[in-house]
Amino acid sequence: EIKQSAEYNFNYNEKYRPLYHFTPQYGWMNDPNGMVYLDGVFHLFYQYNPYGARWGNMHWGHTVSKDLVNWEYKPFVLAPDKLGAIFSGSAVIDHDNTAGFGKGAMVAIFTSAGDRQTQSIAYSLDGGKTFTKYEGNPVLIDANIIDFRDPKVFWHAPSKQWVMSLATTQTITFYGSKNLKEWTRLSEFGEGLGGHGGVWECPDLFPLTYEGKTKWVLFVSINPGGPNGGSATQYFIGNFDGKTFTPDTMNYPLWLDYGRDNYAGVTWSNVPATDGRRLFIGWMSNWDYANEIPTENFRSAMTVARVLRLVHNGEHLVVASEPVKELESLRREAVLLGDKTRTNTSNAITFENFLPNNQGAYELTFTVTPNETDSFSFALENTKGETIKYLFDSANKTLSVDRSKSSVAFNANFAETLIKAPMVAKKSYTVRLLVDKSSTELFVNNGELVQTNAVFPTEVYNTLRFNTSKGTLTLKNVTVYKLK
Ligand code: FRU
Repeated sequence: EIKQSAEYNFNYNEKYRPLYHFTPQYGWMNDPNGMVYLDGVFHLFYQYNPYGARWGNMHWGHTVSKDLVNWEYKPFVLAPDKLGAIFSGSAVIDHDNTAGFGKGAMVAIFTSAGDRQTQSIAYSLDGGKTFTKYEGNPVLIDANIIDFRDPKVFWHAPSKQWVMSLATTQTITFYGSKNLKEWTRLSEFGEGLGGHGGVWECPDLFPLTYEGKTKWVLFVSINPGGPNGGSATQYFIGNFDGKTFTPDTMNYPLWLDYGRDNYAGVTWSNVPATDGRRLFIGWMSNWDYANEIPTENFRSAMTVARVLRLVHNGEHLVVASEPVKELESLRREAVLLGDKTRTNTSNAITFENFLPNNQGAYELTFTVTPNETDSFSFALENTKGETIKYLFDSANKTLSVDRSKSSVAFNANFAETLIKAPMVAKKSYTVRLLVDKSSTELFVNNGELVQTNAVFPTEVYNTLRFNTSKGTLTLKNVTVYKLK
């Protein structure tokens, strides 16, 4: 039985139900799909099983938002058919009616996953409310490739064609089309480059500006084979000429987020030039344990919507990601915990009960300056002995997250010890941590370094503790905002 929207009496008091991250009301969710902006509305479709909270029967669920923060539930738009289940894909606005479905039609391009994987399209003439599948589906077939999926399409103006990035086992194949119906192969990328510990999925090719110049970024999700096991998203930086993606020489693989819980994320299409942002959202889970997370009526949340930028981190270019500024509208009371210094002899800096009466949804910000190359840590703790700890190790140039005691036990893969990220040692670090009832999203130095990790504590984290291996530690503007 399909229980969605009104029928299922969901509420935010439900155990581990995030307060400000998008979750399906009832059922299972994985990848974000078909993100597209139209007439003041951000559409987010998603891999959805309306029949239960485990993967299967893939549909496209649907939600919309005017601010990328508050999401309105909509009925699902695509259900399995004789070609198969509806796997991941994208959506575009066909301003010039190239496909003949109508001027300004919203066209979804997705994988039909049956006995084989093929690409299909569907169009909406009512702004994304309902879709009609094209009678000529599938529009792209390959007789030999088994893992052949997740089409992400954009209009490439210089070559006057639609360009599709498609995951083809452990490479990305690019296809071109004048009408979204007939596709020709352009090139293939990725053999021998980047991470190859698992199958390549959910690509996205898009431009970003760096110092006034256009660079092309290619996202490739990979599962397994992430830097800390399981699923993760790698990227390449380079150029695209309408046919071939040529990567810059860099030390690949590079990872968008070193945490365990940001997968299959891609960017919004048709965002107006007046906005100008490259907007991203990811699935906040990992195939290592996604089907077993300790929720009942629903499974998984999305990350917060983020903005992507190309920045130099002191060693090389990185794709930085930060929460969209609209997220600040969720800030309710702010508690200024202030400035603090730990001297050589003093104990850890501890803020107990730092946000009285919170529901587990808050944001922490501060600037921290360690003494020279000393390592330091901060941890969230509760009275049950549960904790998640962040260790900044300048000597070894790593930022490690220890969530081994962060959660109720449910899967051995979840409670691995250290989740590591390479870190460029700096004099000071600006830290922003978004906490919700079952997630933590860490942004260091304006998103140069990101770690998104789910947590399932049995009680809200309400103590914040800073420590150093030795020496001093200076904290500035430690602030906590209650969110929502
Ligand atoms: C990524 C993925 C995609 C596929 C979808 C199926 O998480 O495996 O490759 O289209 O999930 O739900």
